[in-house]
Amino acid sequence: MIRFEGVSKAFGGEQVLERVDLAFPKGRITVVVGRSGAGKSVILQHILGFLKPDQGTVFIDGEDSGHFTPQQWREKRKKFGMLFQNSALFDSMSVFENVAFPLIEHTQKSREEIAEIVQKKLALVGLVNAKHKSTASLSGGMRKRVALARAIALDPQVVLFDEPTSGLDPIVTTVINRLILDTQKATGCTYIVISHDIAATFRIAHKIAMLYDGRIVIDAPAEEVKNTKDPLVKQFIQGELTGPFDVFY
Ligand SMILES: Nc1ncnc2c1ncn2[C@@H]1O[C@H](COP(=O)(O)OP(=O)(O)O)[C@@H](O)[C@H]1O
Ligand SMILES: [Mg+2]
Repeated sequence: MIRFEGVSKAFGGEQVLERVDLAFPKGRITVVVGRSGAGKSVILQHILGFLKPDQGTVFIDGEDSGHFTPQQWREKRKKFGMLFQNSALFDSMSVFENVAFPLIEHTQKSREEIAEIVQKKLALVGLVNAKHKSTASLSGGMRKRVALARAIALDPQVVLFDEPTSGLDPIVTTVINRLILDTQKATGCTYIVISHDIAATFRIAHKIAMLYDGRIVIDAPAEEVKNTKDPLVKQFIQGELTGPFDVFY
């Protein structure tokens, strides 16, 4: 379980996170929504330990991550799978090699064991037949699927997704959302998803938190967020131009 307690972060006078309290429950899908530039990726960077809070604490497995050494961070990150916004594949490698990469880097497994694991992960994302293709030749949706298979290759406890469906067409978006749901169910991992896609969020989230002006303005089960009376949250999820949400800030 990962938990933010009173986390504040500023960059050059710009307060991006302001006393953020937020828990990411084990074995659930938590989606953090907010406008572009709200600080969603900054939240992920704190979970990965690439950014440190100015104030407050990020707890990882109940431990104050402020005390982790670089070595401890490396160990923790091995339990995290990450799906980057741009998929971040190695385009000189095949689909198979991309998914095998973390297994070769971080384990002592034999070639046969690795091949078997890669096969299983590719099956989970429906890519067994594309195994030998070069990733450079793939569509955006296929690339996301490879990235997802790679993110879960090491059987992580937590998978982090940065805007997994941004830039994809509606049908591919549905495919990726389905895969997020299915792989989470199959693995029981904790999924943390950053998104500005409201429709997608409601399809996958167990819990939704919204970041606005550096603060968490709602943090509740998806159903509760859908029926919220909070004018700010309502405006954001309905995409209205008028309301308390400062559309020009
Ligand atoms: N490493 C950094 N150094 C300086 N400013 C940063 C850094 N990371 C993010 N920011 C700033 O923090 C704000 C939030 O960024 P980000 O978390 O990327 O937004 P988003 O919600 O779109 O993911 C932006 O104004 C961005 O410029
Ligand atoms: Mg971002």
